[in-house]
Amino acid sequence: MSQSRNPIIVALDVPHLESALALVQQLAPVVGAFKVGKELFVAAGPDIVRRIRDTGASVFLDLKFHDIPNTVAKAVEAAVRLDVQMLTIHTSGGLAMMQAAQKSAEEAALRTGKIPPLVLGVTVLTSFNTNDLAEVGVPHDVGNQVERLASLAAKAGLGGLVCSPLEITRLRQILPAHVQFVTPGIRPADSKADDQKRTLTPKEAMTAGASWLVIGRPICTAPNPRAAAAAILASL
Ligand code: C5P
Repeated sequence: MSQSRNPIIVALDVPHLESALALVQQLAPVVGAFKVGKELFVAAGPDIVRRIRDTGASVFLDLKFHDIPNTVAKAVEAAVRLDVQMLTIHTSGGLAMMQAAQKSAEEAALRTGKIPPLVLGVTVLTSFNTNDLAEVGVPHDVGNQVERLASLAAKAGLGGLVCSPLEITRLRQILPAHVQFVTPGIRPADSKADDQKRTLTPKEAMTAGASWLVIGRPICTAPNPRAAAAAILASL
């Protein structure tokens, strides 16, 4: 996916293939891609990815792989065969795991004649605070740990990171310019925060340096999802 494109990724946080496809059909003309996460993938299987790709829309497969390097490399290869455009791995899986994932994305794409997907590193989950990190044996504050893992992801050659919109400014300062930032936690000024605690508006996040905006409920639960997405796009 190039940079001169619609940066809205709609999170398809729905439990069935049918409800996901109904949203895809409605929204495809006004958004840039669709995110398939664990709930939808486990419920609907890889067929949901094929069905979305059949419409011509791009897919972000958000399964956050974290395993030994060989297993993650094989999972990435399978994702390339499904023809996804972006996928996620956990940076806490370590340098070797991230390198294996990136290499597998490039080699599998070459073998199958596809464009390699953007492999995105997930750093510290936003559900974690510094106490939670200490509990699992990480004696750093969240900000430092995010920076450490983000730098490791860049060293491994990953093309992007998933991060909170409030982390982008700092990460832009320490990471190479080609690294893309994908940010959830986006709320238009007139939207409810839901369970998101630290949000920026779509325009603010883009100004801070976001490459892609992951937006779920403000679009999918709006009375008219297509109008909501079009209004967000117009606001950028
Ligand atoms: O509905 P909402 O816009 O809050 O959806 C945001 C999406 O981004 C959800 O799919 C959520 O799981 C995901 N996400 C997040 N925060 C993170 C990582 C992913 O909200 N740190």
